[in-house]
Amino acid sequence: MTVTAAAPSPSWPEDVLRLNAICPYYTMFPLDFPLQQLAAAPSATRVLDPFCGRGTTLYAARLAGLPASGIDINPVAAAIAQAKLVRVTPQAVMRLASRILADGAAGEVPEGEFWEWCFQQDTLRELVTLRAALAGMDTPTAVMLRAVMLGILHGPRNKGVPSYLSNQMPRTYASKPAYAVRFWQKREMEPVRIPALEVIERRATRLLSAAPIPQGGKVYLGDSVETLNRLTQRFDLVVTSPPYYGMRTYVADQWLRSWFLGGPPVVPYGTHGQIARQPSQESFIQALAEVWAATARRCRPKARLAIRFGTLPSARTDPEKMLLASLKEAKAGWVVQGVQPAGTPPKRTRQAAQFGKAGSAIDEIDVVAELIGLTR
Ligand SMILES: C[S@@+](CC[C@H](N)C(=O)[O-])C[C@H]1O[C@@H](n2cnc3c(N)ncnc32)[C@H](O)[C@@H]1O
Repeated sequence: MTVTAAAPSPSWPEDVLRLNAICPYYTMFPLDFPLQQLAAAPSATRVLDPFCGRGTTLYAARLAGLPASGIDINPVAAAIAQAKLVRVTPQAVMRLASRILADGAAGEVPEGEFWEWCFQQDTLRELVTLRAALAGMDTPTAVMLRAVMLGILHGPRNKGVPSYLSNQMPRTYASKPAYAVRFWQKREMEPVRIPALEVIERRATRLLSAAPIPQGGKVYLGDSVETLNRLTQRFDLVVTSPPYYGMRTYVADQWLRSWFLGGPPVVPYGTHGQIARQPSQESFIQALAEVWAATARRCRPKARLAIRFGTLPSARTDPEKMLLASLKEAKAGWVVQGVQPAGTPPKRTRQAAQFGKAGSAIDEIDVVAELIGLTR
């Protein structure tokens, strides 16, 4: 197998990249991966990510001056990714948030120990009001405010000015309620009043002041195959990362953000259409094959497909074999050009590092394929 080295990505000023970090997302890949793929495909005109997560590929395309479409079945992912395609001023975000809060309290305040310990009651009231108002809005400013809210909803309690609205919590995923309550009670960590508007203003100013010009595109909330089957655009670069084999808990791990988007005030266990719900390796490979086949139908001949993939350590399987089998099984004209380990960035920033809970680092690979002109 040949190893293809992608061209190095151009460097961007730090403030231009900030919007990409609006909200962390479990298993996001680093911006460098899609930037390198864009650099290696200089004639690309339209980019696709059928498992777009937080929209890293979409943001890289925006930086490269290209429109991009993203698909994800997780509402949290779609809400974050949408913000990667819009440009609004921090002032517009503040005006909308202030207006919503000035209009008065709305929405149902969830009850129970978790909610009493997670947010101070006035902060929770503001959160609930913003949640209720944003549920019916889809203007660019609302899209941005929603993603800002997802980013500040929970995270560590810092000593200086607060960056998050919650009591002490991880940023990347939300702790389960019983565990979180025990944690706070044991440390007598009462939630403190954190005015939502102050945190929104700081975050929006930081993220949006140097955001690049949007280049168009769209985020679709839904299953990749079903969505691809109804799209009409043609793509010539696809950069994506399917859920790693064994990873099914995207919605449960993001349960607090899911609640903010209108979900229930409890952990929504279940697989929620996740492709990794497949019970066996064979059926997972088959499901991936269907995505690569549907992707091929939406791509121009010679399109480039770059995939980052891995498996959870607990899955004890070879990601390279699985991914290559899925491309073969697709019978769609994808010809593998190269396979290489994804270990370029420092270990702690690798996508696999976020699986820390699950054990030691795992192998991640990058596969690049080209679409030969099959009649389909
Ligand atoms: C590894 S993550 C992608 C992360 C992304 N590259 C980023 O930087 O944020 C895989 C994504 O696939 C999504 N997904 C799983 N099953 C799906 C399906 N059937 N259709 C569309 N998206 C799906 C998950 O919700 C998850 O967001």
